[in-house]
Order: sequence, then C-alpha cells, then structure tokens
Amino acid sequence: MPPVGTRGVRTISQTKAVADLAPADPNSAVPLHVAIIMDGNGRWAEQRSLPRVAGHRAGVQAVRRTIEAAIAHGVSWLTLYAFSSENWRRPAQEVTDLTGLLRRFIKSEIAEMNRNGVRMHVIGDRSRFDRDIQTELARAEETTRANTKLNLVIALSYGARSEIVAAAQQAIALVQAGKLDPAELTECRFAALLETAHMPDPDLILRTSGEQRLSNFLLWQSAYAEFVFTDILWPDFGEAQFAEALAEFARRERRFGARPA
Ligand code: IPE
Ligand code: IPE
Ligand code: MG
Repeated sequence: MPPVGTRGVRTISQTKAVADLAPADPNSAVPLHVAIIMDGNGRWAEQRSLPRVAGHRAGVQAVRRTIEAAIAHGVSWLTLYAFSSENWRRPAQEVTDLTGLLRRFIKSEIAEMNRNGVRMHVIGDRSRFDRDIQTELARAEETTRANTKLNLVIALSYGARSEIVAAAQQAIALVQAGKLDPAELTECRFAALLETAHMPDPDLILRTSGEQRLSNFLLWQSAYAEFVFTDILWPDFGEAQFAEALAEFARRERRFGARPA
C-alpha cells in the first residue's frame, strides 16, 4: 500500500478509455462522491433488547451526523441507500415503521437542508410509496434545488437491476422511434438513461455492519468505486467513522486499468 500523502503527485495517462471511467480528478484525496449502504439498525436494536424500529430511529440520527460530516469534509455528493427494492419484502409493520420515519425525516429536515446548503435528490421507484410521501419528496427536491454545498441523494425503493432494465427499455423505445441508431448506443449514452444521469459515479462506497456485498446498489455506477467495509453498526456511525473511511480512501491507489505514470 502506498504511503499516505503521495496521491497528489501521481497522474494517470488520459487515454480515451480511462477518461470515460475515471472522474475529472482521479487522484483527488477527497472523494467527489461517497455512497453509503447504511446497514445494521436491526442488530443494533437487538443488542439492546429493543424493537427494530428503535434501531431505525437511531439510524436517522446517524444520517444527520453523516450529512454534517460530508459537508465538513468537503464532499460534494453523498448518496444514502435508505430502502432497497427488496426491502418491501420485510414484515408489513417494519415497512410501515420505515416509511413513517422517512415521512417525518423529509418533513422535518427541509429547513435544516436549506440552512446548510444541501440539495436533495431521490433515486428509486418513488411511485411505490404513499402519495403524501411522494408529494413531500417532490417538495424537498424543489425547495432545495438552488443549494450547492452538498448534493444529497437518497436511494428509496432503489434497485440497480431494475434501473438498468428501465434504461434498456428506454434505449429500445428510442431505437423504435428512429431516434437512436443501435450502433451509437455507447456507454456514455446508456449512462445518460440511468436515474443517476446527472450524477458523478461514486468514488467511495461504504457499507456498515460487517456485511460485504452490494445488495443491488449502484451496480453500473460502481465499476471503479473504492470499497470500504466497516463492522460498526449504522446507528453508531458518525464523523469519526466518516473521517476514517476518507483516510482509507486517500491511501488507495486508483488506476482505472491504466498504469501510474
Ligand atoms: C438497515 O438496517 C436499514 C434498512 C435496510 C432499511 P437493517 O434493518 O438491515 O439492520 P440489520 O441488517 O437487520 O441489522
Ligand atoms: C441493504 O441492506 C439495503 C439498505 C441498506 C437500504 P439490507 O439489510 O436490506 O441488505 P441484505 O438483505 O443484508 O443484503
Ligand atoms: Mg441489513
């Protein structure tokens, strides 16, 4: 592993293939985009003999701390995996608890987001949530749209495979309408059909609770992401753990298939 602090002097040759997959500043010590799989709320509650919902409630506090930490560390994009398309399979009461927390979080947090310059975006199939939640999500996106300090992306009822299939369906429709020549469907054009079209790819994907899997999160976008897995349970996550993950990221050497100059 290279010593800390050497990343700034390393450069990567900008061949076409590299430029497509690497971020604008591939050697930046601070990731432009951090994406987090917030896991372990249930186990946190279990360890305390509390109902799972207590873990989810404590998880909301960790979300607040993490947003503050991202701003403090100068991270521009923060994506939080809050609810997967597979999480609908959980018992009805837990789904109700989670959607209830989401409803309250969005309503209560808009003012704070505006104070802190946070712009909120949502990815995922929001049509599966109750109407009032869909309205609140749209309102939060609209109210915060001029903010530029941090782009906060909340992945809700998100599943990467269905996102990719939806993009493929759009591409087929474009071809059928005579608006796209199949030979011109490049990686770039395809990525523009994904829900994340307006976002940079994640540089760092972090998962808490000791699990080491993606669970259908950002499969396309994570092609060259760095992964950090930590045993800490999500409700215990905060600034110190965020800083630790960024320090680990800064020690990584990203090559994008090329060779360091
Ligand atoms: C993460 O915590 C929250 C969601 C997936 C919505 P979990 O509820 O998955 O907690 P564990 O994995 O059971 O501990
Ligand atoms: C992944 O966590 C989804 C979120 C964090 C929202 P899960 O707890 O649902 O993932 P699995 O089932 O352990 O893979
Ligand atoms: Mg889990």
